[in-house]
Amino acid sequence: MKQQLEEIMQRAKEKLSLVKEKSELEEIRLAFLGKKGELTAILKGMGALSAEERPKIGQIANQVREYIEEAIESKGIELSAKELEQKLKAEKVDVTMPSKKTMIGGRHPLSSVIEEISRIFIGMGYEIAEGPEVELDYYNFEALNTPKNHPARDAQDTFYFTENILLRSQTSPVQARVMQSQKPPIKIICPGKVYRADEIDATHSPVFHQIEGLVIDKGVTMGDLKGTLELFAKNIFGESTKIRLRPHHFPFTEPSCEVDVSCWSCGGEGCRTCKGEGWIEILGAGMVHPNVLKECGIDPEVYSGFAFGLGVERTAMGRFGIKDLRLFYENDLRFLKQF
Ligand code: DAH
Repeated sequence: MKQQLEEIMQRAKEKLSLVKEKSELEEIRLAFLGKKGELTAILKGMGALSAEERPKIGQIANQVREYIEEAIESKGIELSAKELEQKLKAEKVDVTMPSKKTMIGGRHPLSSVIEEISRIFIGMGYEIAEGPEVELDYYNFEALNTPKNHPARDAQDTFYFTENILLRSQTSPVQARVMQSQKPPIKIICPGKVYRADEIDATHSPVFHQIEGLVIDKGVTMGDLKGTLELFAKNIFGESTKIRLRPHHFPFTEPSCEVDVSCWSCGGEGCRTCKGEGWIEILGAGMVHPNVLKECGIDPEVYSGFAFGLGVERTAMGRFGIKDLRLFYENDLRFLKQF
């Protein structure tokens, strides 16, 4: 048996030395070590050996098995290295071939403006708040001092799911949600989509973006509002930008104002962009109405605050000199690639 084992080892050695392809290795493994392999056959016959001989032969058989296993493995490694070397030799790199262009996506101009504005306010200590686009009538109107029969609802005619659930027509409902869930001091902005039943034209879209701002603390005044917005406008439209507050009415602020910035095209002299006015309206703002504070569980005798709602499309149009808002939504790469 010992001799048989030595012969097996010898034969395995010879066969392995002749191997050229990796696939042959598996055949050799099966022929010697497989279930029906030569070595396995010997091991099976060991039952017939005497108790004395069995461990000796067993030891040799194990050595032979180990030897064959290792030899197969190292041959495999050797062949892999050869294969790689041949492959590298055969392959030529043609450095003059034009490469495949990788398309790198870019930020949508509305996203970059939202990010830019958010960064300005984060720099002033604001946090970003979020609210649902499918909103309750209560938050979109009722909690904002705009009861069911209020005429201000007409200006924001929107899409209703039921009488009490709608697509938010403004980001202002987030004000009420934040005030009801956080204690002052509060300092948040909320960028997001809003919906209105408006016809599409160069300055209107039924879906657009706003950024809401809200600050509630002790002793907050209209002066703080003005200073904040001035800093914001200069950051976005340039250092020489001026702002102007015009009296207005919003149900949820008192006093309320609309805020204009000096025209980004002409600097205030009057041109086509500002329709000869020298000013362009970009947002609504005011001091949070005491009724709103009360409804949200904040004592108006102790706290005051300001709020504002900014049109993102309008700001982006000014920032990038875009004349038609529809371009933002048409996904024409010739337009989008410019940003
Ligand atoms: N939500 C108003 C709108 O969509 C804009 C606005 C005005 C928001 C005054 C405010 C505010 O927070 O104080 O027209």
